Amino acid sequence: MKRLTTNIKTTEEQFKEKVEAFMEVMNIFHGRMNNILCRDNDLAVIRHRERGKLDARIRIDLLVDEHTPFLELSVMAAFDQYDDQFPSAGIVTGIGKVHGKLCMIIANDATVKGGTYVRETVKKHLRAQEIALGNRLPCIYLVDSGGIFLPEQANIFPDQDGFGRIFYNQAQMSAEGIPQLSIVMGSCTAGGAYVPAMSDETIIVRNQGTIFIGGPPLVKAATGEVVTAEELGGALVHASISGVADHLADNEIDAIRICRNILEFIPANESQPYELHAIEEPVYSLHDIYGFAPVDLRKPVDIYEIIARITDGSKFEEFKKNYGTTLVTGYSRIFGFPVGIIANNGFLTSEASLKGAHFIEICNFRKIPLLFLQNITGFIVGKRYEHEGIARNGAKLIHAVATTVVPKITVIIGGSFGAGNYAMAGRAYNPDFLFMWPNARIGVMGGQQAQDVINSIKRNNNDDLVKQIDKESSAYFSTSRLWDDGIIDPIDTRAVVGMAISIASNKKTTPPRNGVFRM
Ligand code: COA
Repeated sequence: MKRLTTNIKTTEEQFKEKVEAFMEVMNIFHGRMNNILCRDNDLAVIRHRERGKLDARIRIDLLVDEHTPFLELSVMAAFDQYDDQFPSAGIVTGIGKVHGKLCMIIANDATVKGGTYVRETVKKHLRAQEIALGNRLPCIYLVDSGGIFLPEQANIFPDQDGFGRIFYNQAQMSAEGIPQLSIVMGSCTAGGAYVPAMSDETIIVRNQGTIFIGGPPLVKAATGEVVTAEELGGALVHASISGVADHLADNEIDAIRICRNILEFIPANESQPYELHAIEEPVYSLHDIYGFAPVDLRKPVDIYEIIARITDGSKFEEFKKNYGTTLVTGYSRIFGFPVGIIANNGFLTSEASLKGAHFIEICNFRKIPLLFLQNITGFIVGKRYEHEGIARNGAKLIHAVATTVVPKITVIIGGSFGAGNYAMAGRAYNPDFLFMWPNARIGVMGGQQAQDVINSIKRNNNDDLVKQIDKESSAYFSTSRLWDDGIIDPIDTRAVVGMAISIASNKKTTPPRNGVFRM
C-alpha cells in the first residue's frame, strides 16, 4: 500500500505557531474534563467514600481486565446544564474487556444527586444499550441510583425513549442472547428496581445494596407500615427470601470478583473474520495533528495530512484520486483492521457524491468498516450545480450511507453543516460511534449565514440569532445533549477509532440491502 507523503515541514515556525494556537482549545477542553473527573472536594464524593463505597470509575477500573483500555463515552453529557449539578449526567458508560470479553458497562454515580436520572442520564443509558445491542456486547450494570430525579419527571418518565425503555431494552437484549448482569452496590428504587430484576443474573452487596419498588418513606405513607430499608429490601432479603438477587457479595470487591467469574461462562464475542495485519505505527508524529485541526473553518485543511497521522504506517491506497477531489476515499488499516476512509477536502460536489456512493458500495460488499472524517460546510450551491442535479447525486451518497451494513465510525474534526452532516454519516445515519474534536462545530448552517437568510426573508431582524446559533454549534453544546458519543483529544483519534472498529467488528451483519438509487 502507498505511504502518504507530507507537504508540511513541522519544524517550521509557522507550523509550530499553529500547534501552539490549538493549545488554547486544548486547555479549555482539559479544564472542563478535570472539573468533571476530579471532584475530590465535592461533599457528596467525600460522604460516599466515608461510607466505604468506591467511586463509579474505580469500580469500573477493578472490573475490567488489567492493562486493557476502557473506552468511556460522553464524559461531558449534561455539561453546562442544570447549573452543572449533573457531571457526566450522573452515569458512567463505556466498553472494556472483562474476562477477555468486550462488555458494555453502565455505572450509576451515586455522588451525583443520589445517582438519579435526568433526561441526559436516560439518553446516555439508552445509547449505551443501543451500542451493546448493535454490537452484541454483554451489559454489566453497576447499580447505585435513586431512580428518576423527581423535579424532571415529565422529561423522563412517559415518552417512548423514557426511563421505561431501559428495562424494555434489557428484555429485548436478553431475548437476543445478549447477557444482562447487575451488581447492586447501593439503592435501586422504584423503576430502578427493574434494572437488577430484569437482569439474567444479579449480585448484591451485603449491608449496602437495596432493591425496592417503594422505599420506607413511601411504604409508611401508603400503608402505615414502619420498616427499615434493610428489612424491606436489603441484600439478605433478596438473596435469601425474595430471590430477586442470585449472589450475595461480602463487599464491592467480592461482587466484582463474582461478576468476573460469571463472565468466564459467557460465550466469546463473535467477531467478523476480518483479515488482520500486524499493527504499524504511523510514520508521522501524532502530535502534529494539533497543527492541522481546523479552527477557522473558512480555511481549507489538507485532509491527507490528518489521514497520514492516524493510519497504520501512514499508508493509504486512494480510490478515484483524480475524480471528485473534494471527497477523499481509499483503503487503509488502523490497528491492523481494514478500513475504508471517506474524508472531506472541500464542498461536496456531484462528482464527489457519486464517488462516495461508489466507494461505500464497494466497502459494503467487501465487508470493510467505514471511517468518515467530517469537515464539511455542505453541498455546493448555485444555479450551475442545481442544473447538473446536485440534489440527485447527493441523494445517492446519502442513500449509500443510510443503507450500508458495515460498521460506520464518524469523527467530526471540523465543521459539520447542513446536508453535509447527513452525507458524512451524522448521528441520524446511525454510525456505530460518532466522536467530535473539541474545535468541531455542528449546525444547519453557520450563525452569520443563518442571520443573512433570516434577514432576506423577514422584515424584523433578530440580531441574536448569530450568537444563538454560534453557541448551539459548539462541540460542548452537542456533547452535553448526547448528539455524539463524546469529545476526544485529537491525539487520541487513532486509538479511539481502532477500539471502535474492534468493538464494531462484533456487529451481526445482514446481507447488503441497497434501495433504489435515483440515477
Ligand atoms: N429526586 C430528586 N432528588 C433526589 C432524589 C430523587 N429521586 N433522590 C435523591 N435526590 C437528591 C437529594 O435531595 C439530595 O439533593 P441535595 O444534594 O441537593 O440535597 C441528593 O439527591 C443526594 O441525596 P441524599 O438522600 O442526600 O443521598 P443518599 O446517598 O443519602 O441517598 C438515595 C440516596 C437515592 C438512597 C435517597 O436520596 C433516596 O432514597 N431518594 C429517593 C429515591 C426515590 O424514592 N425515588 C423514586 C423516584 S423513581
